[in-house]
Amino acid sequence: MVDAKRTLEDSTDLMRRSFVERFGGSPRIYRAPGRVNLIGEHTDYNDGFVMPAAIGFHTRIAIAPRSDRKLVVYSENYSDQVEFDLDHLPAKCAGHWSDYVVGVVKMLVHAGKELRGAHLLVDGNVPQGAGLSSSASIEVAVGYALLDLANPAIEGESLDRTKLALLCQRAENEFVGARCGIMDQFVSSHGERGKALLLDCRSLKYRQLPLPDGVALAVCNTMVKHSIAQGEYNQRRAECEAGVRGLSKHLPNARALRDVTPEALEAYGEELPDVVRRRCRHVIGENARVLQAASALEIGDLAAFGKLMRESHRSLRDDFEVSCAELDLMVELAEQVEGVYGTRMTGGGFGGCTITLVRADCVEAFQQTVRQGYERGTGCRPEIYVCSAADGVGRVA
Ligand code: GLA
Repeated sequence: MVDAKRTLEDSTDLMRRSFVERFGGSPRIYRAPGRVNLIGEHTDYNDGFVMPAAIGFHTRIAIAPRSDRKLVVYSENYSDQVEFDLDHLPAKCAGHWSDYVVGVVKMLVHAGKELRGAHLLVDGNVPQGAGLSSSASIEVAVGYALLDLANPAIEGESLDRTKLALLCQRAENEFVGARCGIMDQFVSSHGERGKALLLDCRSLKYRQLPLPDGVALAVCNTMVKHSIAQGEYNQRRAECEAGVRGLSKHLPNARALRDVTPEALEAYGEELPDVVRRRCRHVIGENARVLQAASALEIGDLAAFGKLMRESHRSLRDDFEVSCAELDLMVELAEQVEGVYGTRMTGGGFGGCTITLVRADCVEAFQQTVRQGYERGTGCRPEIYVCSAADGVGRVA
């Protein structure tokens, strides 16, 4: 974690100095954020709707060109350096931090981008294994930095952020081997300060929804690392796909659970195995909740928004079964605090964090109550991050 007292200028300066000591030259510095999802969980890979926000935790890349075709990448977090030749990139992932870098480079090359050799210094403060998308933030930061460096004539603003997000998702799906949806990379690319992003994961159309003043996004880390998540995640995806196959007898046009209404599930769901039917019920209900939550936000009805968050959590716990005792406890504790509009687990599940919308003037009492209750209940001290919605990827210096 970065010391909160360090201002952005100070830390950018430190990073530049650290780069120059290691590599010389004069680097450009880029930054891509992690995210928290307000509502719309496990809907992205079902062609559905999500509403994440980028947050203040990020990965930064300092980068300067080399005259050859080598990429030399140093991680401040791992105190480790790797080297690659742009013309002979590794064929397989190695279970190493640099997989995310190599994956993105490979996808950029595959997409026909002309890259140049470079020195890169990587430094991130997104808590890892906490479900706040540290991987998307490194992917998007690396992709953006390399593209911007390769095309100095095009200033960053004209870079296609949606294409970048898709390339980064592909790196994770095809190179790293995690079958994630598009949500994390998309909001890391497109996030806007003070706004939640409502995304249609089929058309990739999105709207920025202003978050009202006076509301904090409190992110509570259970400190349970979601390490079993990948196998379970892929299994949930497979169950959703099985649901679509089962229902397509009656709904030949259904390509994804996005195309199934609650009424259709009611009518034909009986034929599905119980587990599959419950997975479908979560996704179909969650899609509807995201759209209702967007309407509630647009008219400033935070009570309605909060109710939808609570319903989302129950559905993730009971039907989708991706919560865990620690997440449930964190939610129960938060629900009892004054000024809380709504609270739920966020991200893939099986550990990681909850997200709570809480009145800004109640946030201190909230932290104290939740911290004490959680520590009493689990013997473990949680971390609580009070966040606000941040900008997506960009150049900082
Ligand atoms: C992870 C994935 C996302 C999304 C969420 C669950 O964060 O990376 O694509 O599927 O889980 O909503």
